[in-house]
Amino acid sequence: MISIAIDGPSGAGKSTISKAVAKRFGYIYVDTGAIYRTIGLAAKLRNIDAADSRAVISMLPELNIEIEYNESGAQCMILDGADVSGDIRLPEVSMLASKVAAIPEVREYLVDMQRKMAERYDVVMDGRDIGTVILPNADLKIFLTASSEDRARRRYEELLQKGIKESFEDVLKDLIKRDEQDTQRAAAPLKAADDAVLLDTSGNTLEESINAVCGIISERIGSDRK
Ligand code: DC
Repeated sequence: MISIAIDGPSGAGKSTISKAVAKRFGYIYVDTGAIYRTIGLAAKLRNIDAADSRAVISMLPELNIEIEYNESGAQCMILDGADVSGDIRLPEVSMLASKVAAIPEVREYLVDMQRKMAERYDVVMDGRDIGTVILPNADLKIFLTASSEDRARRRYEELLQKGIKESFEDVLKDLIKRDEQDTQRAAAPLKAADDAVLLDTSGNTLEESINAVCGIISERIGSDRK
């Protein structure tokens, strides 16, 4: 099995780029942020404070989280039998995800789920600790970055497209706060693996970033299958 780890901060274009790249190479795309978001949402649905690690940890054994792929190949998150793929994208849930992701027991709980995906399929897996913790032996690791303003602008446009209204200033503020939480936490903080290829997408069009990543994969792993 081939595994490609794509890590980086929020809004660096990881999910859009990873999805496109996975399609081009015929791999499965695994969005690990969606799994943390599902746990953040589960806490909210149970009126649990996402920062209360004791309460979040005691909720974990009750959860039934599954990853499914629909007929168009999109990853769907199923929480206790319900498809929550839309709900987990709300800005409020982004912050809850970042909070639960700082709890070591939550990360531990999700290790196997993520590794199993890479054992079963050729994957492009995106997240924050894929190259450092989840798949340290990935065939290729890419760390995507971009300036905070570029990342906030992309996130802002993405939310607008989904009909979610947030001011640009709020999106930027949230993103900086989440970056801080994600990089400064003790458990598997966001950082590039020593052997990751660094790619700064500031100022790039999406197409340019996708082509850059495909170029790196073709060079390191082999040509695309399509
Ligand atoms: O990629 P995203 O914005 O959907 O991720 C939501 C949150 O989950 C993000 O703030 C950090 C956390 N996360 C993580 O800690 N580790 C991962 N592998 C993926 C996401």
